[in-house]
Amino acid sequence: MIFDRNEKKEVIALLGAGSMGTAIVRRIAAGRKILLGDISETNLEKVSHDFQYSGYDVETMRVNALEKSSVEAFAEKAASLGDVKYFIDTAGASPHQTDPAHILHLDMVGTGYAVDAFGKVMAQGGAGLIISSQTGYMYPIPYETEQEILNTPTEKLMDLPFIKETAMQNSGWAYMIAKRINHLQVMKAAATTWKARRARINTVSPGVIVTPLAYDEFAAAGEGYQQMVDASAAERCGTSEEIAEAGAFLLGEHAGFITGTDLLIDGGVIAAIRTGQYKLHR
Ligand SMILES: NC(=O)c1ccc[n+]([C@@H]2O[C@H](COP(=O)([O-])OP(=O)(O)OC[C@H]3O[C@@H](n4cnc5c(N)ncnc54)[C@H](O)[C@@H]3O)[C@@H](O)[C@H]2O)c1
Repeated sequence: MIFDRNEKKEVIALLGAGSMGTAIVRRIAAGRKILLGDISETNLEKVSHDFQYSGYDVETMRVNALEKSSVEAFAEKAASLGDVKYFIDTAGASPHQTDPAHILHLDMVGTGYAVDAFGKVMAQGGAGLIISSQTGYMYPIPYETEQEILNTPTEKLMDLPFIKETAMQNSGWAYMIAKRINHLQVMKAAATTWKARRARINTVSPGVIVTPLAYDEFAAAGEGYQQMVDASAAERCGTSEEIAEAGAFLLGEHAGFITGTDLLIDGGVIAAIRTGQYKLHR
């Protein structure tokens, strides 16, 4: 049975075939070609099977987001399949899963590699979405330091004194800072490399979203997360489908005037912190 006779299809590349990423892709993938990249072969097999049996056209590639050459090969593979219309990056690790160096390499440097590599292959009118986090709003980086970060190439980010001295203190700090830097990476790309290709790029910053990654966080620091969620206006965790709803909007044509910015989707956690309704324990 041939499900789709169209040969020339727009390409959606997803780096990090996890919960939120696959939920976003499902919203926009009909009639398009999906390229999934992930470090886990098991994950790739499972997710591509689910996509295939839901009627989607899918290919996979093992990618390590920590390695520049691997991410570049992924972007080239995407371009070889057709016009790269959408790029979504959700490859990440959370504070209780690993150490500060790994978080910074993956969530900050790895994201930078991906934004740089896809900034060379995006089709005109294309759009990118990077999954940051509400934690990107929890530690305000001084203005001068942000300027320094904006002027530093991806390969040199780990050498910055601010990263070595402040971000490396513990995994929580590393995560907050990496996720704020995602906002800056997207801002810079939107104004430079992605602009040159007439493509848009944004971040979303999810709050507490129930996924396997979040389960690891709850197991290690459940009480803190519970208090944070209870203090929020929504008084509940979010779902990957709610992030996908916003992601589909930001990637779609109705968001044609939105680039270089972030959408916070946190059920009101940051509002509770900023107004003193919830005191953050760092
Ligand atoms: N779940 C939450 O509450 C939450 C909240 C805010 C932000 N986030 C962020 O959202 C993103 C996605 O999270 P999720 O909850 O969907 O998690 P998930 O664990 O379902 O997805 C993450 C994916 O990244 C892949 N990955 C990990 N290391 C990789 C590497 N080196 N190379 C390639 N792929 C790699 C994993 O195999 C996994 O498929 C992460 O960046 C996370 O930090 C999550």
